[in-house]
Amino acid sequence: MKGMSVRYFSHLLQSVQHFGKSPCSLCRHVTSPKPCWASLFAVNNHGFFTKTDHAQDGPFVPRRTLMYVPGHDPRKLGKIPNLGVDCAVLECEDGVALNKKEDARKNIKEALSSLQIDNIDVALRVNSVSSGMMEDDLTAIIGQGLGSTLGVEQLPHTILLPKVDSVEDLIIFTDRLQAVKLGRDYCPYLITYVESAQGLMNMKDVLHHATEYSKDGVYKIDGVVFGSDDFCADIGAERTLDAKELTYARQKIVMVAKAFRIQAIDMVYVDIHDKEGLRVQSEEGARKGYTGKQVIHPGQVAVVEAAFTPSPARVEWATELIQGFDEHQASGKGAFTFRGQMIDMPLLRQAKNVLQIVKNVHPR
Ligand code: COA
Ligand code: MG
Repeated sequence: MKGMSVRYFSHLLQSVQHFGKSPCSLCRHVTSPKPCWASLFAVNNHGFFTKTDHAQDGPFVPRRTLMYVPGHDPRKLGKIPNLGVDCAVLECEDGVALNKKEDARKNIKEALSSLQIDNIDVALRVNSVSSGMMEDDLTAIIGQGLGSTLGVEQLPHTILLPKVDSVEDLIIFTDRLQAVKLGRDYCPYLITYVESAQGLMNMKDVLHHATEYSKDGVYKIDGVVFGSDDFCADIGAERTLDAKELTYARQKIVMVAKAFRIQAIDMVYVDIHDKEGLRVQSEEGARKGYTGKQVIHPGQVAVVEAAFTPSPARVEWATELIQGFDEHQASGKGAFTFRGQMIDMPLLRQAKNVLQIVKNVHPR
């Protein structure tokens, strides 16, 4: 309980008592989902939402490439509309030095109010709850800090919360987010990070709570990121090229994320010059079921995007398999062979996954 106020402790207790029953009176006070950010976003003509979309039902927001753009660097922030990424991350956390946090918040608020950004999921990565700086990030950028308050259409579509080690971290974040909403109908997507042994152990509980808050329209939990370098440091592992030391965590994170039907974003490849190594690791992540990967440099975007986009041959395979399956179903047959393979329900689901990804990504 070190460093936790009485308020948060009682909040935590209350949340545990109410979990799965009725909403907590402290921060889950919204009892019916309000019109959320996704529907407002649609009105602003951004490409991948429709007017009927609601965060709770979930339009799929592609995040094959999730790229960090350090908030202290206005030149890099200005490049966002042309980076060609699915998700641009306005970075406040570890990509920004401690003595540049204030500059980063100011630049990010300016970028949100001035940049014309279409067809990109604009995300804000705040500092972690344990850093003690998360609240200042939210206040400055989403609340009334740094002067004027941004309209809902100018707020980040997604918030990334790093180093979520416990349910308590999530509750504190949720409480602060509620406070800075200032009555606006703002319902961002939320993506949490697993970056420690504790975070991995508690991932399931964190996502359970995030799912409950999502039902109330506080935010919509939409994914989990594997923070592999912090994870390595936390467990005392030595980072190697083929990342075998991360096998268990990498596999478990994707498995738990998919159990909650949310996205899983794979580790960073830190050598920005090694495109071949990046390709191998990206394809490996895609085969494991990850939906996208963190990117740190524009030179990584094309390789990562290609790995997380099904090839034309794979799309043709999926299309023909589904056709064949439908024909066999209509004629009353069950399993059948297609291109020498026995086809049944699991393969049909894989084929549908392939077409689902293609349907959801932006045309370039
Ligand atoms: N976002 C936007 N633009 C970027 C960028 C990024 N993450 N990384 C590089 N660029 C731009 C540069 O500004 C430069 O454009 P310019 O020539 O018009 O100035 C161009 O791409 C080439 O960049 P380059 O000179 O090769 O790299 P750099 O020295 O400017 O930056 C890094 C290298 C690693 C510092 C930079 O890529 C970066 O900041 N990455 C993100 C780091 C981060 O946030 N880490 C935390 C999460 S792991
Ligand atoms: Mg990290």
